[in-house]
Amino acid sequence: MKALTSCRRAHSTFISLSETEAEASLRTKSALNLIRARKTTPLPLASRLSSLLYPSQATSPAPASIPQASPALSSSSSSISQQRPWSSSPAKPLSISTSNPFSSSSSSSTPTPTQASNTLKPFHNTTTVITGGSRGIGLAIAHAFRKQGGRVVLIGRNIESLEGARSSLMLGSENVDVLAGWSNGLDKSGVALMEGDVAIVGDVERMCKTISQTYGPTEHLINCAGISRDSILLSMDPLEASEVIATNLFGTILMSRGISKGMLRRRKGCIINVSSVLGLKGVEGASVYSASKAGVVGFTKSLAKELGPRGIRVSAIAPGFIETDMTANLTEQQRTQYLAQTPLGRFGSAEEVASAATFLAQAQYITGQTLVIDGGYTA
Ligand SMILES: NC(=O)c1ccc[n+]([C@@H]2O[C@H](COP(=O)([O-])OP(=O)(O)OC[C@H]3O[C@@H](n4cnc5c(N)ncnc54)[C@H](OP(=O)(O)O)[C@@H]3O)[C@@H](O)[C@H]2O)c1
Repeated sequence: MKALTSCRRAHSTFISLSETEAEASLRTKSALNLIRARKTTPLPLASRLSSLLYPSQATSPAPASIPQASPALSSSSSSISQQRPWSSSPAKPLSISTSNPFSSSSSSSTPTPTQASNTLKPFHNTTTVITGGSRGIGLAIAHAFRKQGGRVVLIGRNIESLEGARSSLMLGSENVDVLAGWSNGLDKSGVALMEGDVAIVGDVERMCKTISQTYGPTEHLINCAGISRDSILLSMDPLEASEVIATNLFGTILMSRGISKGMLRRRKGCIINVSSVLGLKGVEGASVYSASKAGVVGFTKSLAKELGPRGIRVSAIAPGFIETDMTANLTEQQRTQYLAQTPLGRFGSAEEVASAATFLAQAQYITGQTLVIDGGYTA
């Protein structure tokens, strides 16, 4: 008993120490500095992925060229990676309800108006974190979750863009459940903004900590932040290639790692990663982008197996060509080529992708799958 108590004490001291260090470091280093540091320093992605995937090696210091918020944050990162709460305890057996779902006699009486309104809004009283929520597909997903009664935390690198997203969400708020704000009074609007870069370890740790401390449990994480830099391989700048992988793949890994910690504690949650048809099918001039999105599909499948026994579903969506800023610069020739291969003969809309995200968030028996939304392009 004594040993257990002293072990617990040591553990809590350790946690509070890392958090104090992390906070101190955050006061001294701004996210802006980190982004600048990243722009001038190539990301040694392989070593970062390796330390994430093989946490037993994570005690060794991170290479100096990895952008970190501070040495303190970096050490807190490796301590987190060693905790892996899901690896130490066996999966809980499924509890099977003995009530008959088809029985017409229900123990509950006629629903109150509040209960009825909750039934109509499936995301009532839930929090959904959406990376890349300031524009395009991410913003459409935010609208879809808000319309169904949920609160949303939007993540992006540009605060003006995020403010614009919040304004557009508030414009449609007459349809939104007024109870959808956070009950702690910090943000009654039900729309919170986080400025940060998903490819930077320190930014992700700061954002995940704030989300968990300020906005409570996260039910859904949508990893939508992404960039594309089309170019044939030999003319591609290695730094740009590294940025594509860092944002699209490593950002998805980092955010899933940060947010799933709380989900694991509650044995509940859903992660939806935005891949692409180019992760399933090759296209000339998009090899690095394709690699990043194929990586997202592989990550999704394995993580679904890892987290499924702990009550967390992980799925992906693979949009075809969707009308957003990302596709605005396609040449006429590229558009014509794509449309010729698309049975439905048109580009998709961000709203059509968003409806797939809300579907997957509610599909309690789907995990590890990639849902393609492409007008038949990959058929
Ligand atoms: N449009 C398509 O045809 C299509 C097709 C298949 C898949 N996708 C995927 O769908 C996702 C959304 O694409 P979209 O078309 O909506 O693109 P978009 O309009 O360019 O929006 C990209 C979003 O990601 C954010 N973002 C980019 N890099 C980030 C970073 N490092 N950290 C945090 N946020 C970052 C952007 O905000 P800031 O720039 O302000 O940071 C913006 O909110 C991407 O993953 C994309 O690869 C798009």
